[in-house]
Amino acid sequence: MSRAVTTRDPLSESGVFHMAFLSDTLARIKPSATIAVTNKARELAAQGRDIIGLGAGEPDFDTPENIREAAKRAIDAGKTRYTAVDGIPELKVAIAAKFLRENGLTYTPAQVTVGTGGKQILFNAFVATLNPGDEVIIPAPYWVSYPDMVLLAGGTPVPVVARLENDFKITAEQLEAAITPKTKWFIFNSPSNPTGAGYSRDELKALTDVLVRHPHVWIMSDDMYEHLVFDDFKFATPAEVEPALYDRTLTCNGVSKAYAMTGWRIGYAAGPVALIKAMANVQSQSTSNPSSISQYAALEALTARRTFCPTSARRSSGGAIWWSRCSTRRRASVAPGPRGRSTSTRISLP
Ligand SMILES: Cc1ncc(COP(=O)(O)O)c(C=O)c1O
Repeated sequence: MSRAVTTRDPLSESGVFHMAFLSDTLARIKPSATIAVTNKARELAAQGRDIIGLGAGEPDFDTPENIREAAKRAIDAGKTRYTAVDGIPELKVAIAAKFLRENGLTYTPAQVTVGTGGKQILFNAFVATLNPGDEVIIPAPYWVSYPDMVLLAGGTPVPVVARLENDFKITAEQLEAAITPKTKWFIFNSPSNPTGAGYSRDELKALTDVLVRHPHVWIMSDDMYEHLVFDDFKFATPAEVEPALYDRTLTCNGVSKAYAMTGWRIGYAAGPVALIKAMANVQSQSTSNPSSISQYAALEALTARRTFCPTSARRSSGGAIWWSRCSTRRRASVAPGPRGRSTSTRISLP
């Protein structure tokens, strides 16, 4: 005999939301503004409006065919089970090779961790390291998720405002002034979301000189937009520019932007083994491994020669590709910004 079921939201009573049920931690954070504005743009597009979304950083070309094919092969080969928590060994080898090839950084596979997107990588690192009162220096304007991730992990975000007159880059003096005995991390994001500001090697060296003098500060370099640069901008990452910082730098990256794989959810990082193990520990008690299929797709992305967008791309003398197919709308929608801005769709090849 069937029984009538009345649905009732246990968290609300007469429409009043029981805030007391939710954790104090959650009360400190806001939902992702990027996701909110992206959902809104999607909604309006679904209503037939001509919308250019400037929220989530989405390359407007498809994931390259060879990567899609690798994923299909992985499915057909039954590579659809749990994997090692923080990445299959062959992907870690490929990531270590990428760091050496593109960044001149030597990491062993044991120094590499793979997560469900760059976002999970950063989150794992914060959860693994932050204690109440620990401060994280975040150059502003910043990717909106940084402060909330820090707060969720129990730390205190410390924004340092990068001024328009300085092309939205912070100075060595500003960094020096922001460091306190409680500073645990300095987040470095170049090219930056949202400003697109890219630090030259010399500008970065000025910051790393400060960091060398403060051995308690660790560096989280979010290199997600490494390949979305233009003109003759040369990407540089802290551990490469200042080898003295290698032992306290987490170099973070992912395939989301460089390979148009935002939906596949693969991010990665390399750093000291003890930190990498702690991050894997966090992941083991939350999501476990990132999608097995996406890992094989990422393996193809990082090991195959880049052959995507061949008909629409043209190689320039600087060894870069201009994504003509993808660029027209985007270029029309973006005001000129500082050199190296990431909203450009010229992709530099290794
Ligand atoms: C600066 C920055 N870091 C990290 C990420 C996260 O990338 P993923 O989609 O791989 O989680 C984003 C995504 O927009 C980003 O803008």
